[in-house]
Amino acid sequence: MRTQVAIIGAGPAGLLLGQLLHKHGIDNIILERQTADYVLSRVRAGVIEQVTMGLLDEAGVGARMHKDGLVHDGVQICVDGVRHRISFKELTGKAVMVYGQTEITKDLMDGRAAVGAPTVYAADDVALHDIFSGAPRVTYRGDSKSHEIDCDFIAGCDGFHGISRKSAPPRAITAHERIYPLGWLGILSDTPPVSEELIYVRHDRGFALCSMRSPTRSRYYIQCSLADDIDSWPDERFWEALRPRLDEEGRERLVTGPSIEKSIAPLRSFVAEPMRFGRLFLAGDAAHIVPPTGAKGLNLAASDVRYLSQAFIEHYADKSDSGLDHYSDRALARVWKAERFSWWMTTTLHRISENPFDLKLQVAELDYLFRSTAAATAFAENYVGLPY
Ligand code: APR
Ligand code: PHB
Repeated sequence: MRTQVAIIGAGPAGLLLGQLLHKHGIDNIILERQTADYVLSRVRAGVIEQVTMGLLDEAGVGARMHKDGLVHDGVQICVDGVRHRISFKELTGKAVMVYGQTEITKDLMDGRAAVGAPTVYAADDVALHDIFSGAPRVTYRGDSKSHEIDCDFIAGCDGFHGISRKSAPPRAITAHERIYPLGWLGILSDTPPVSEELIYVRHDRGFALCSMRSPTRSRYYIQCSLADDIDSWPDERFWEALRPRLDEEGRERLVTGPSIEKSIAPLRSFVAEPMRFGRLFLAGDAAHIVPPTGAKGLNLAASDVRYLSQAFIEHYADKSDSGLDHYSDRALARVWKAERFSWWMTTTLHRISENPFDLKLQVAELDYLFRSTAAATAFAENYVGLPY
């Protein structure tokens, strides 16, 4: 087989890249280790920046998002039982869209199927070869047979645990990492959300987040220990832990019910530099991870894909490699700002340290955020997404 760009991974990064390349007449094949059903069963964050919405529209897959997504003009932050609001609209003129990542993945898969672009699911033993030569190759096993794809470029969109980053020479890569000593316990429930807007909660008992997927489906998270086992968190225990962290109105309005999904996610900040190795380009979680506070993961995957798709388009249409040469620097400049913002939200809102100095700093940070228009504008600008 031969293609122009071999894409490893059919998460949001790989699927969006494939769609944008296809629109510009660039051949691509996606190789995914899991089945399509498995990929669609993963519940992930659900806040889409305005620039990401634009990109999904450009890829021709934004229709359902505009129909079913919820436009949010602001966000609420509850500190020790007192709620504050930050208006994105007043401070930046922008908004975000609340729409599940699983739905975006489905829209991208449907878009790909509609144009007939090839995706190989359940591809085993994917391996990258000759990435520093002019003729890289990808091999894999599928249907009990070995396959080989010759290509011009490889896009490593295979997430944090993928094979692409591991295929770069270890000496050529620098990893920066911060692991937080806690996790997020999340549940999905068919109950009306406690508020029309998201509420991020800082409380002495620990962080909480009230989010949603629709007017009848809620997504809630609380900070938990990494040693916690999901079985030790029956629904009742979850609701009992969440309610006292809310303000009075929230406690009264909270509607509880059975969970339809429950999971624990670790919190990690990670960046691998650079994002290019010869003809291999990394994008999305393959190159960087943010903790979920601020919901930047999918949005960063999208901004990488925008820079990378433009670079491939320039290469094929204009015979210019300038975009490819600048891809890593450009993408990382935006990545590090989102890393900073997610780290700031995480360390300011969670109970991480028991040092009273750190706790006082959290309160001071938040007090400043609510009193200063400059601080609130900086927050809003980052939350709605920095321009490309
Ligand atoms: N071979 C082929 N596919 C692989 C391999 C491999 N060796 N390893 C992993 N994959 C696949 C995974 O099964 C997954 O479907 O690559 C895909 C990577 O998708 P994501 O993990 O969703 O990463 P990405 O597309 O970069 O999306 C980033 O999604 O993971 C969330 O929180 C993250 O919001 C962020 C966004
Ligand atoms: C979610 O709705 O799942 C969500 C929202 C905001 C976040 C993280 C997750 O910061």
